[in-house]
Amino acid sequence: MVEIRYTRFDISNDMEFSTIKKLIDEDLSEPYSIYVYRFFLNQWPNLTYLAWAEGSGKPIGCIVCKSDTHNGVRLRGYIGMLAVEKQYRGRGIAKKLITLAIDTMIDEKCDEIMLETECSNAAALHLYENMGFIRMKRLFRYYLNQGDAFKLILPITEKSCVRSTFLGMDSFPTDTIL
Ligand SMILES: CC(C)(COP(=O)(O)OP(=O)(O)OC[C@H]1O[C@@H](n2cnc3c(N)ncnc32)[C@H](O)[C@@H]1OP(=O)(O)O)[C@@H](O)C(=O)NCCC(=O)NCCS
Repeated sequence: MVEIRYTRFDISNDMEFSTIKKLIDEDLSEPYSIYVYRFFLNQWPNLTYLAWAEGSGKPIGCIVCKSDTHNGVRLRGYIGMLAVEKQYRGRGIAKKLITLAIDTMIDEKCDEIMLETECSNAAALHLYENMGFIRMKRLFRYYLNQGDAFKLILPITEKSCVRSTFLGMDSFPTDTIL
């Protein structure tokens, strides 16, 4: 079995940038412009991880994330992109990439982690729901191909379970890990 290695994105490495773009462009229905990649990778290089197969010379999987204040009251991590090359799927690589990203977002005090995925993407839904993500909303015709999306959330702290309006009004415990 080929050994898989995981690294954090190196912002000074152009090959890593172009391989991430290629991996994502190949698989996702939504065409992203180069500015979308720059937006994520320039601002949150610490929240992008790569998977490398022994001898491949280039990443064979990646996860691209960000984190931001949501409604001014909680810190929300966001998984923007995830892909693993076809020939390497089914070996737990995506699960490991997601775990690395989640651990970093927890270290950075995120209250929750959010993502959207196509309702028809059974592999992604199975993957995320097995890791504790919960379906919050169906977003109708969310994608350019007219496909619906599910918005999934992984609550980390108690803040994630309280409506933003109430968080703004009261002092809720901020350090409780669920
Ligand atoms: C979704 C994707 C990232 C999964 O990558 P992977 O490395 O094969 O996933 P893993 O091997 O880590 O699998 C993790 C879990 O997902 C499940 N899974 C993976 N592919 C699946 C499939 N086709 N159908 C059902 N479940 C699947 C696995 O069974 C595993 O579950 P387990 O923990 O209960 O065993 C990969 O198929 C891919 O790149 N798809 C195209 C891009 C995409 O859809 N990205 C997600 C958009 S949000």
